[in-house]
Amino acid sequence: MASGQLSRAEALACTNCRHACHVMLYCDTQNKLFGEIPIKHIILMQMRFDGLLGFPGGFVNPSEESLEEGLSRELLEEIGVVVPISVENHVQSCPDEDVDTRLILHFYAKKMKEEQILEIERSAASTAIDHGHEVLGMVRVPLYRTEGGGLSSFLSHSFIGTARQQLLDCLLRFGLISPQTLCHALSISVA
Ligand code: APR
Ligand code: MG
Ligand code: MG
Repeated sequence: MASGQLSRAEALACTNCRHACHVMLYCDTQNKLFGEIPIKHIILMQMRFDGLLGFPGGFVNPSEESLEEGLSRELLEEIGVVVPISVENHVQSCPDEDVDTRLILHFYAKKMKEEQILEIERSAASTAIDHGHEVLGMVRVPLYRTEGGGLSSFLSHSFIGTARQQLLDCLLRFGLISPQTLCHALSISVA
């Protein structure tokens, strides 16, 4: 399979490929860390069963469900809440870096209200059927810099697949961080 980005239609035309959909759920917030450092946005990722950081979502079978229905189903399992996902939330589709997997990765982003994100955090730790199994817990991405690290330390962790790059792309695409702040974090991140 060729590398690079695919349109949604091109991706679905590959009938003998597997498909996986993941999403970045996020919101704005006025809250401040220690009452002084603006948190600005809450971005939800998860600690996966394999010890890697990733986005909620999973395998989808387009012959049984649309990509977006499948992603909503995965979200219900992993975060315990129904989150409707539409084609407008689609960000990109690309083949997995390992061409032998014949896996196409679809990525989505959805901006929500802060109270909805807080509800997701509560249900992910209580009612989600995958909690403690496929998902060890939701985590927020620290977008700020602290004396000991912040975003630079977060980016030094290990991520599944292209999740780290998907995060960086979306931070810039949706204006959640300035290019200068991101460059600084990357310059001191060890990953
Ligand atoms: N970027 C790229 N690839 C990713 C990303 C990402 N952000 N997140 C996950 N993947 C890959 C994973 O490596 C996996 O191969 O997509 C595939 C499916 O994603 P999962 O979220 O792991 O799938 P899910 O359906 O939730 O889990 C089902 O799959 O990994 C196995 O046995 C494991 O029980 C699990 C099952
Ligand atoms: Mg899953
Ligand atoms: Mg999953």
